[in-house]
Amino acid sequence: MLDAPLLKVRQLEAFYGDFQALYGLDLELKTGQVVAIVGANGAGKSTLLNSIAGLMATRPEAIELAGERIGGKAPYQIVAQGIALVPEGRRLFPSLSVEENLVIGGHMKRPGPWKLARIYELFPTLAERRHHPATALSGGQQQMVAIGRALMSNPRVLLCDELSLGLAPIVVRDIYAHLRAIIADGVAAIIVEQDIQQALKIAGHLYCMLEGRIVLHGAARSLTRESIAAAYFGV
Ligand SMILES: Nc1ncnc2c1ncn2[C@@H]1O[C@H](COP(=O)(O)OP(=O)(O)O)[C@@H](O)[C@H]1O
Ligand SMILES: [Mg+2]
Repeated sequence: MLDAPLLKVRQLEAFYGDFQALYGLDLELKTGQVVAIVGANGAGKSTLLNSIAGLMATRPEAIELAGERIGGKAPYQIVAQGIALVPEGRRLFPSLSVEENLVIGGHMKRPGPWKLARIYELFPTLAERRHHPATALSGGQQQMVAIGRALMSNPRVLLCDELSLGLAPIVVRDIYAHLRAIIADGVAAIIVEQDIQQALKIAGHLYCMLEGRIVLHGAARSLTRESIAAAYFGV
């Protein structure tokens, strides 16, 4: 089926001990589509991405990739299936160089166009700094390493958690311009953003989360700023 979703999240729940962080979440992502998740701090955005990436306990049927149940699989299995996470706060390996961080992203050896040379072509500034410790780079450059590391696994689905966090507006613009180029290449993406304007600029479809639930979703052009703001703040 041409229009069948690539990634399907159905009635997803997540818990931290006794605390329930996600309630019956439904979400769909089609091939080549970009979906944005917005919501206030603590809404459950990272928990959602981490669940898809295999970092949270999940029922098998809660997450499907191309019709296959992948809920509850280990993170490395999820990467092997073609889902890569750019985690909140980047989580680079501080003792490793830029290049070593990138190479780790490719350890599942999924076939595809993304190799070191292509990452350096996309981010020439990383090529110049390939032997520097990753943590010696600026915040924006570190974000490029985190994106490059995810791309090295040749994902079908890229999960991006707050790419703009802590970065200057001009750096954010640069990161998103690169992301646009990556997406134009055919990878589908779920972008978590606190900045609604940024999210609307890149995504065709928007989901708004509040306290572990999806409270609004729809085509980006069909949603008014007022309705998004109301859902975001729960007013
Ligand atoms: N490791 C954790 N242990 C306990 N509670 C957590 C943990 N991580 C997140 N939470 C809680 O889960 C909820 C959702 O958090 P999170 O997914 O990080 O939200 P967001 O990414 O939207 O800011 C919040 O109430 C947060 O306090
Ligand atoms: Mg978060």
